[in-house]
Amino acid sequence: MIIPKLASALAYGGDYNPEQWPESVWRDDAALMREAGVNLVTLGVFSWSRLQPAENSYTFDWLDRVMDLMAEHGIFVDLATGTASPPPWLSAHHPDVLAVDAIGAAYHVGSRQHYSPSSPTYRRFAAALVRQMAKRYGRHPALAAWHINNEFGCHVPECHGAATTTAFRTWLRAKYRTLAALNESWGTAFWSQGYGAWEQIQTPRRTPTFSNPTQQLDFRRFTSDAILDLLVMEKQILQAVTPDVPVTTNFMGFFKTVDARRWARELDFVSWDNYPDPLPGRGGACYGAAGHDLTRSLKKDRPFALMEQSTSGVSWRPVNGGKPPGLMRLWSLQALARGADAILFFQWRTSRYGAEKFLGGMVPHAPAARSRVFAEVKALGAELKRLAPVAGSRVKSRVAIVFDWAAWWAVEHEPATKPARIDYAGWAQELHAYFFRRNLAVDFIAPGEALGDYALVVAPALYLLTRADADNLSAYVRGGGHLLATYFSGIVDERDHVVTGGYPAWLRETLGLWVEEWFPLAPEETAAIRLAGRRTPLAGTHWREAVHLEGAEALATFHDDDFLHRRPAFTRHRFGTGLAYYLATKPDRTALELLLDEVVQAAGVQPPLAVPAGVEATLRASDRASFLFLLNHGPKAVRIALGERRGRDLLTSHACRQTLSLEAMGVAVIELTG
Ligand code: GLA
Repeated sequence: MIIPKLASALAYGGDYNPEQWPESVWRDDAALMREAGVNLVTLGVFSWSRLQPAENSYTFDWLDRVMDLMAEHGIFVDLATGTASPPPWLSAHHPDVLAVDAIGAAYHVGSRQHYSPSSPTYRRFAAALVRQMAKRYGRHPALAAWHINNEFGCHVPECHGAATTTAFRTWLRAKYRTLAALNESWGTAFWSQGYGAWEQIQTPRRTPTFSNPTQQLDFRRFTSDAILDLLVMEKQILQAVTPDVPVTTNFMGFFKTVDARRWARELDFVSWDNYPDPLPGRGGACYGAAGHDLTRSLKKDRPFALMEQSTSGVSWRPVNGGKPPGLMRLWSLQALARGADAILFFQWRTSRYGAEKFLGGMVPHAPAARSRVFAEVKALGAELKRLAPVAGSRVKSRVAIVFDWAAWWAVEHEPATKPARIDYAGWAQELHAYFFRRNLAVDFIAPGEALGDYALVVAPALYLLTRADADNLSAYVRGGGHLLATYFSGIVDERDHVVTGGYPAWLRETLGLWVEEWFPLAPEETAAIRLAGRRTPLAGTHWREAVHLEGAEALATFHDDDFLHRRPAFTRHRFGTGLAYYLATKPDRTALELLLDEVVQAAGVQPPLAVPAGVEATLRASDRASFLFLLNHGPKAVRIALGERRGRDLLTSHACRQTLSLEAMGVAVIELTG
């Protein structure tokens, strides 16, 4: 159980911001929460100015009353530490708390999250607030989890203020010890950047042209660490008082600023905020699936929490499409299907004012009793009770996609890949989308992780790869694993220095080839690829490489009228007892499906059930039971053949065998007996 106080229940609820409402509304809130089946609310995320209206005064009485009200109604609280948005008095008295951008301009009050993570003053005040919260509510019966800060790194991805510059230098001194080592690592011989004193080093501020890539990479690492330091500071304060209350913070899926994998080690459970675009054709289900899989993979041994989503639209997209009837339910149950034990929203009651007053909450502006949205909220709450047996069960994947923050940071800073910029997370998500369509469960893993559980590991554009991680991938293949690496992998080491002698140097032997040079394509260009045994050519996009075979066989070749004609586009190499594939271009969707189908078949990975297109099928299992989730994302009702699978649908209590019908947006959760 990720939240022990909820025992064997799934968590259901959302952010609750009672400070935006007169106290007379609170009792209605509590009653409506009961009606909706809410058992967990996140309180206090943006309450700092209410909790500490002036430097030396705290006002907890209102929060005491809310906490008591929740306890009285049997609703638990994921209590935020309130540190995400400092009150105006703090920056008025102490302007050094403000974050500063690369040009040197400060962020100001009037919005949210404007603080500098490295400001000692911010840290001091944040720590004091957290101490107060821990002391005051640590023993409150409603407290079930701590929610540290909120969406760390959101809005202000980096800071260049004085305190940050000092902290960056300290971080660099600890890493390099000597300036000579830093100069070597940063390659400062290029463009006359040699540093003669630590004080000369700056954060990568505004520069005339490309700034030093290793400096940028170290700054990214530093920034992730500096923000993480805040989380650790808060956690230590909380745990000294409440060692048994789990702590979390809400991640944002494929979010570049913080290395969520490194961060997850500090948390008792991981959570994320899922805001897919609900407009038709925007791939919302696929976006959600990838985010759920990434989040779940950060702590594979337990379920995760969907901390936020909206019941309908948001207020920050070019077009703020709403969720039509049924979609909120479908996407909520999708989170469950992919390993969540908590379905929460931003927020309980939709605000009347402020920047997000049209962002769909659980209680809309319309009267709750007559509202379509609230009716669906209630229905979902009732369904989650029926689905309680699923709590604690897990998704087990046989496929992994290597996804590494350092590789992401480094590759996207590399100017040479323009105009066909390598969209690292986008490429990983495109590959994930293939597995999503095929209903093959996927974990997102670090390149150095234990790989023994996987039948297939995919490494997209793993530009930055350490020797140790390359050896890990090679040992996996040697021992019988199947690896698919794609173009622009294994190019540089952890310092962003090219490993010379033919790319991808440390994977050459494993892949049975070497790459001499590359030829990125303009966005409007495609490359023709011929697959052995197939007449019609396939299309590659974005990238081509000049590959020399050294043991690998070409399964597909380029067929354009140029220098790369008949040169390998897709290869396979038997290495040890495994297979290593290499993709030297980015196939379009049709080509990708053809090529990957072959790789998947060779690896022997299979979906939990063969289902019609548009139906998502996943398995969750525990020692006691297995649950087959079937979700119809398509526009029409479908009939699904269950084959040998049989059991009972937890949602309807109906026995399921042989076939099952699902309406458009319909869901079945079958507790399997066979
Ligand atoms: C984020 C924040 C919330 C809210 C939502 C909706 O997830 O954590 O406070 O702003 O976005 O935009």
